[in-house]
Amino acid sequence: MPGNGHHDVNASDKSKQFLKYATEYHAPVLCNDVIEGLITDSDGIYLDATFGGGGHAAALMDALGAESLVIGVDQDLEAIEQGRSRLGAEIETGKLILVSGNFARLEEIVAEYAPGKIDGVLFDLGVSSHQLDVAKRGFSHRSEGPLDMRMNTDSALRADAIVNTWTFSELVRLFRINGEEPRAPAIARRIVNVRPISTTRELAEVVRKSVPELRESKTLARIFQAIRIGVNEELDMLEQGLHAAANVLKPKGRLVAISYHSLEDRRVKRFLRTGNFEGRLERDIYGNPIRPFRELTRKPVSASEEETGVNSRARSARLRIGEKTSAKESGVAQSGAVH
Ligand SMILES: C[S@@+](CC[C@H](N)C(=O)[O-])C[C@H]1O[C@@H](n2cnc3c(N)ncnc32)[C@H](O)[C@@H]1O
Repeated sequence: MPGNGHHDVNASDKSKQFLKYATEYHAPVLCNDVIEGLITDSDGIYLDATFGGGGHAAALMDALGAESLVIGVDQDLEAIEQGRSRLGAEIETGKLILVSGNFARLEEIVAEYAPGKIDGVLFDLGVSSHQLDVAKRGFSHRSEGPLDMRMNTDSALRADAIVNTWTFSELVRLFRINGEEPRAPAIARRIVNVRPISTTRELAEVVRKSVPELRESKTLARIFQAIRIGVNEELDMLEQGLHAAANVLKPKGRLVAISYHSLEDRRVKRFLRTGNFEGRLERDIYGNPIRPFRELTRKPVSASEEETGVNSRARSARLRIGEKTSAKESGVAQSGAVH
C-alpha cells in the first residue's frame, strides 16, 4: 500500500510481511503474528507501546478498518520524528496519533487520547536497529561512541555515570542480574581499576581483557545489555507497562509482547499467567484462578528460518499473546470497574 514507506512486496504474501514493512530505521519482527494476535475488532483502538520505526504500526493500520485508531508511543524522540514523516498521511487522516513518552505512563496516555478501554496493546521490547546503528547514541560495542545508552535523551542517567561512579558491588549486581554474566566480579574489578572510561570502545576493550577470547562476543553483549537495562530501568518500566496494559484493555482485548531475552520473557510469561511477576496464581473461594489475562500462547512464537535469514535480530524474538479476562476473573470489584 502506498504511503507507509515500505518495500514493494505482494501484499497477499503474508509470510513476507517482515520484508514489506522493513525500513532502514528498523525491520519489524514476527509482523504477521503480531497482527493476527492483536486484532479482535477491525475498527478498534490499539496502542503500539514501542513505536520505533513504525513497521508494526504500519502493518496494523493496513489491516484495520476505516474507524480504527492506532496510538504509537515511544520514549525516543527520534522514533517519533521519523514516524511523523513516514506515516504523515495516517496522522493527517486521524488514523494514527504519535505520543512521545514512556509506556509506563500508558494509562495516562490512553486517558488523554482515547478515554475508555481499548482493544489491544503491543510491546516490542528493547532497542531499535536505528538506536544500535547510530554510534553517538552509545548503545553498540561495535562502534565508537560516548557512553550514553539513553532511549529518552532527556533522562538524567547515562551509561558513563554507571560505569564511572557505581561501586564494585553495584556493578557486580548489575552484571549478574541484568546481564546474567558469570564473570561479573572480574569485569567489575577491572572497570573499577581502570576508570574513568569515556567511550563504548574503551569499555569494550576493558571487558575483552577480563574474559577468555572465546567468550568475548557473548560477554560484550551481556555487559552492554546489562548497562542499557540499568540506564533505561527497562525491567521496572516493563513491569509498570504490563500492569498499565492490563488496566486499559477491554475484556477479550489482547496484549502482544515480543521479548528478546529471558529477563523480559520471564516477566511477560508470569504476568500473563498469574498477573504478578513471582508466578503465584491466586484463586477465588471456588478455586477459580484470579488473573488479568489468559495466555493464548502456551509456548512463545518464534521467527521462521526465512525471517531469521534476513533479520538476525529476529532470532532471539519470543512472542506471547494474552487475552484480557473479565472483571470477575481479574478479581476486580464489579461496581463500574469496566467501562
Ligand atoms: C524494538 S523497537 C520497536 C520497533 C517497532 N516495533 C517497529 O516495528 O519499528 C523498541 C522501541 O521501543 C522504545 N522503548 C523501549 N522502552 C520503552 C519505554 N519504556 N517506553 C516507551 N518506548 C520504549 C525504544 O525507544 C525503541 O524505539
